Amino acid sequence: MASEKKGLFSALRRSYVWKSVFRHEYEDTARNRALQISSNVFLHLHPTKVRRHALRLRFTWCMGGVTFLLFLVLVVTGVILMFYYRPTGEYAFHDMKYLEFDVPFGMILRNMHRWTAHAMVITVWLHMFRVFMTGSYKPPRQFNWVVGVGLLVLTLLLSFTGYLLPWDQLSMWAVTVGTNMGSATPIAGHEGPFAELLGVDARTDVRALFTGGRLIGPATLLRFYVLHCVLIPILASVLMIVHFWRVRKDGGISGPL
Ligand code: HEM
Repeated sequence: MASEKKGLFSALRRSYVWKSVFRHEYEDTARNRALQISSNVFLHLHPTKVRRHALRLRFTWCMGGVTFLLFLVLVVTGVILMFYYRPTGEYAFHDMKYLEFDVPFGMILRNMHRWTAHAMVITVWLHMFRVFMTGSYKPPRQFNWVVGVGLLVLTLLLSFTGYLLPWDQLSMWAVTVGTNMGSATPIAGHEGPFAELLGVDARTDVRALFTGGRLIGPATLLRFYVLHCVLIPILASVLMIVHFWRVRKDGGISGPL
């Protein structure tokens, strides 16, 4: 019986279908190991060969990798949070309370999202600091530094837009202060330098664009929700893809000087 099963399995492994899915053998040879990485859609995101120093925690602190991992946790917990949250003035705050006190595991879900968001802001700064200290912003990696700056701004914007969503007093006033700063933007803010160039006023400047009016209200909540859950995560994902691709194209992680 056992030998029959074994025969069936080896016939399956010789079959056309099996070979079209698994394109390499299992023997532990350098060629097979490379093929296993390069022929798998998920594994191929890593290079088949890395230089020894690139794996050293002391060099990268793995801060870029940790930042990416935190981003993935945020996406997963954020999508689950969306099942329970309605971005309207009427429901938002109550939905948060319902989530915290009634939904099974709701409190841990919300806090995972919140604390991971705080952690991501810290790790992205630490990653930037590491890149600076190891001089990894120098050619040929100067473009990736610029992509990184974009990612830093998007990470901070994700944090800022998410802050309004609980729709409590803390978030309302924090975002009131934050968006008021927008009025002082040069040219595009009505209280900023050179505002007269565009002729913007309190109803038409960049602050009004983000808040959807003159005060923080339900229109602001909806705008921040869309920015937080759709636009900024998509932009950040695209920039991350470019960022990781650039790391590969620039010859992998920079080496010790
Ligand atoms: C969401 C934010 C970010 C993510 C997920 C991310 C992710 C990564 C990862 C996984 C690496 C591979 C090496 C490592 O883990 O350290 C890397 C490298 C790099 N990152 Fe970022 N990064 C982000 C933001 C930034 C920022 C803010 C900067 C700088 C302004 C930056 C500049 C660079 C550069 C220049 C490299 C190449 C480093 C080298 O070759 O040693 N990144 N990034």
